[in-house]
Amino acid sequence: MANPVTWHKEGRLATITVDNPPVNALSHAVRLGLQTALDALEADDEVAAAILICAGKSFSAGADLREFGSAPMAPAMAEIMRQMDEARLVLVAAIHGLALGGGLETALLCDYRIATPDARLGLPEINLGLIPGGGATQRLPRLIGADPALDMILSGRPVGAEQALADGLLDAVIKGDLRKGAMEFAQAALAKTKGRRRLRDREPTGCETDFAARRLAETKKRRIMAAGHAVRAVEAACQFPFETGLAKEASLFAELKSSPESAALRYLFAAERKVTNPPGLGTPRPVTTSAVIGAGTMGSGVAIALLNAGYQVTLVETTQNALERGVSRIEQTYASMVERGRIDATLRDERIARLSPTLSLAHTAEADLVIECVFEDMGVKQALFAELGPLLGPDAILATNTSALDVNAIAAASGRAQDVVGMHFFSPPNIMRLVEIVDGEATSPNALATAFAVAKRMKKIGVRAGVCDGFIGNRMIGGYLRQANLLLLEGASPEQIDAALREFGMAMGPHQMGDMAGLDIQAAARKRRKAEGKLAPDDRAGIVGDRLVAEGRPGLKAGKGLYRYEPGSREPQADPAVASIIAEEAQKLDINQRDFSDEEIVSRCIMPLINEGARIIEERIALGAQDIDVVYCNGYGFPRWRGGPMFHADAIGANNVLAQIESFRAALDPADWEPAALLRSLAISGGSFADHNRHD
Ligand code: COA
Repeated sequence: MANPVTWHKEGRLATITVDNPPVNALSHAVRLGLQTALDALEADDEVAAAILICAGKSFSAGADLREFGSAPMAPAMAEIMRQMDEARLVLVAAIHGLALGGGLETALLCDYRIATPDARLGLPEINLGLIPGGGATQRLPRLIGADPALDMILSGRPVGAEQALADGLLDAVIKGDLRKGAMEFAQAALAKTKGRRRLRDREPTGCETDFAARRLAETKKRRIMAAGHAVRAVEAACQFPFETGLAKEASLFAELKSSPESAALRYLFAAERKVTNPPGLGTPRPVTTSAVIGAGTMGSGVAIALLNAGYQVTLVETTQNALERGVSRIEQTYASMVERGRIDATLRDERIARLSPTLSLAHTAEADLVIECVFEDMGVKQALFAELGPLLGPDAILATNTSALDVNAIAAASGRAQDVVGMHFFSPPNIMRLVEIVDGEATSPNALATAFAVAKRMKKIGVRAGVCDGFIGNRMIGGYLRQANLLLLEGASPEQIDAALREFGMAMGPHQMGDMAGLDIQAAARKRRKAEGKLAPDDRAGIVGDRLVAEGRPGLKAGKGLYRYEPGSREPQADPAVASIIAEEAQKLDINQRDFSDEEIVSRCIMPLINEGARIIEERIALGAQDIDVVYCNGYGFPRWRGGPMFHADAIGANNVLAQIESFRAALDPADWEPAALLRSLAISGGSFADHNRHD
């Protein structure tokens, strides 16, 4: 491999260029190259300053994540950083694109930082359960102050060049050619100052911060050890001399690097990139024009996501009223984006100008991609696909947004099943990043690839799923919700169940989620499954939900469901009327209600997720455990720091999962607790779900 680091002399100035695609990660070869370059330039008395600049789209995304988990290779970044700190040369970092993590930390070792207007600087380590380990916790408080440093480290969000300049993180913003601007800047700096201007020689500012209060608040908010450690590290910058603080940062970083949370978060980072490139994809077909059928909440959200991604969108409805409601929903969303400063009015106008609302299905004839978001009913969808099939061009892709129906049956109705794919968006589709991309039995590799390419352009995470009732996510949630519902009859209150699962880390409890989604939706799904013979007619799990719906309590939209809601509020309040309904139903069924520990509640709900996940892998509905984990952490509020249900199962151990399932099987309805064959075999072999993936 070519040396990723080169240098070039021009009088008293030198430029060191890093070129390590795709993101100039500070890999072993880069570290070696930097060491060699610095050695050579330090030894050259003619050279007084060196500019560190990078090729490609960005300055650097920091440490090479692919090296995590393998044996460290010298020189370590700490060694290069020490070399930079002790250098005689005046160092200037010339930043474009992203300077993240170790990339920004390298820039903090330079005496000056300059950047192009589009540059963004950040410390995203917290997203990986880490803190910066290259001195940023010690140098940033000396540059911008303890509180702003903590904000940057704890949020993980990059700041733009203008903001960075205002905060003092940058010394200048360079418009035009960065290399040339950097040379001029370095010349001027050399003329003005003599010698280095290292951050380690400054005193930190803002040290009156109440670190103990901040540590408590951040740990509570984020639930990960890295949050508390970030505060401890910045506090050390205020408490100790530089070298002691640096050593403290190193030991906190080392502790986090071997923590289960960081392992989970790094696993997800890799999984989210892996699953979006599944094997067997063909060449994507070109897509510029799209159409969305149905302008309800889902349809208008999908239309916004397509408009945001730059597509032309024809939006089709059957009545003028419904169409106007959809368009107004889209306009309101854009108005609020402008209000919140997310986009400006010009961009809003440009996006809305690409929307063509119509009542005529014939106007979709030119579309390269049609996404159906109509009522969740097989008959309705089949009739629509039968009409679309002959109407659309030969290369067009037909996507259905069904969340559970048989994609093969919908595809067959079109007469061109090879062009049909499922694109199951999550609500609201303009916000939620997950899309399950459903690979029908006749879907062509090109059609599948097109759906992945469109999802990527929409900045969404596409996960391949096979055809089954509910695909990956909704199929798994069935068992989870079922137990949450049965627990009500057995004596646990909606509040306790929700609180226990939130404490486990779920973004929201199952009953609050049910109220938000609408208990009537769950009731309708049960009715369908009973009609299809997939659910016993006297099934208990839906009894409370059916009764609440019958009594006019379908959830948040009516101000009452399993909870009650004050007018205009989304905050669930415990409702004694619900407690009585549940108690009455339990009595009718002769159930002796009892107390539950939070631990038992969590186990009752999470074990079915894992068990069904195992079946989904066995049946090849998901390509592997990582697909399931990406679905759950991006679509169902599963805690990222647990890595997803299958990663969590590996952490507990398949034998322990099996033991819990077996004990529930002995005590409860055995039909709910049949262990998956894959779970059994892993429990015997000591293997892990992580090894089950068909991506490689
Ligand atoms: N080390 C090694 N590889 C990295 C990397 C890193 N720090 N950051 C990104 N990559 C790789 C990705 O794995 C991906 O590889 P692939 O094409 O083989 O799948 C490629 O670079 C592009 O990244 P991707 O995330 O798909 O592109 P993007 O443009 O959406 O995002 C970043 C780019 C840099 C914003 C994003 O990758 C990121 O946040 N990286 C992590 C940065 C970080 O946390 N650094 C601190 C490490 S401690």
